[in-house]
Amino acid sequence: MSLPIDEHVNAVKTVVVPAAGMGTRFLPATKTVPKELLPVVDTPGIELIAEEAAELGATRLAIITAPNKAGVLAHFERFTELENTLEERGKTEQLGKIRRAAGLIEAVPVTQERPLGLGHAVGLAESILDDDEDVVAVMLPDDLVLPTGVMERMAQVRANFGGSVLCAVEVADEDVSNYGIFKVEDAEGAGEDPDIKRITGMVEKPAFEDAPSNLAATGRYLLDRDIFDALRRITPGSGGELQLTDAIALLIDEGHPVHIVVHRGKRHDLGNPGGYIPACVDFGLSHPKYGPQLKRALTQIMIEHGVFAEQDITDVAQGASG
Ligand code: G1P
Repeated sequence: MSLPIDEHVNAVKTVVVPAAGMGTRFLPATKTVPKELLPVVDTPGIELIAEEAAELGATRLAIITAPNKAGVLAHFERFTELENTLEERGKTEQLGKIRRAAGLIEAVPVTQERPLGLGHAVGLAESILDDDEDVVAVMLPDDLVLPTGVMERMAQVRANFGGSVLCAVEVADEDVSNYGIFKVEDAEGAGEDPDIKRITGMVEKPAFEDAPSNLAATGRYLLDRDIFDALRRITPGSGGELQLTDAIALLIDEGHPVHIVVHRGKRHDLGNPGGYIPACVDFGLSHPKYGPQLKRALTQIMIEHGVFAEQDITDVAQGASG
């Protein structure tokens, strides 16, 4: 969109969403259905990301997809035939649902021909940025960071300190080898906020013994445009792929300020069934239509699986009402 950057709330125009992955942790579902389209209750994960990006004030979603994942982009296009049918049948609510994604944000396709890594995927977005964009946001669609609003906090930190700002969560020792892990020091000028730290290093998926902390990158990045130059200078790293983490580490080594905001709320990992199912339960329980029924069903299931005894549930219910 042609709005100048200073008219964008939080000065972010483009959010890059890497969505070219093969979804191997979700096979066989992802054999033909892109994992970004799997529904959280009834809404594809990528639409939740688009909503978060629009809330941030961005107007463009650069979706990086593989050639066989056209369905991800199609979700952001109008579907006239279906719209007409729903309109003829007076199904107004459903009509709103299928038009919603296209109305949230302008989706711009970027194709990653080969799976060369997250760093490579993000680097491809440079070609669609406008000249006035000195910052680019990246949101990984596997990660739901809740409540939303962490990107706004990160934009505030960037306004104070400049450079790049990432989101971190604290993870258990046994999980550090699954993430980009930060080496941190207290941020000068962060005042009383213990959740803002300066980063002095970052390493992708370290062994626990080599991990500099338990603070892990969690799918939300606000990156200075310099990242593209750094991405051109890295070589394949962890897993033989071009890693975004390595480009950020390079910027840090060269003196570029990088900070994190430690997120203390919730996070769901939609990229594998073990994280996806709790996300569906969480969203389902809060859903006005499905919540009450789901609560009853889950209670029953948990009794059947011996998670709770019937008496525990009665006690809790009585405690809540008494
Ligand atoms: C990616 C990043 C990693 C980050 C993680 C967050 O890893 O490379 O630094 O901590 O996302 O979800 P992936 O999960 O794609 O292997």
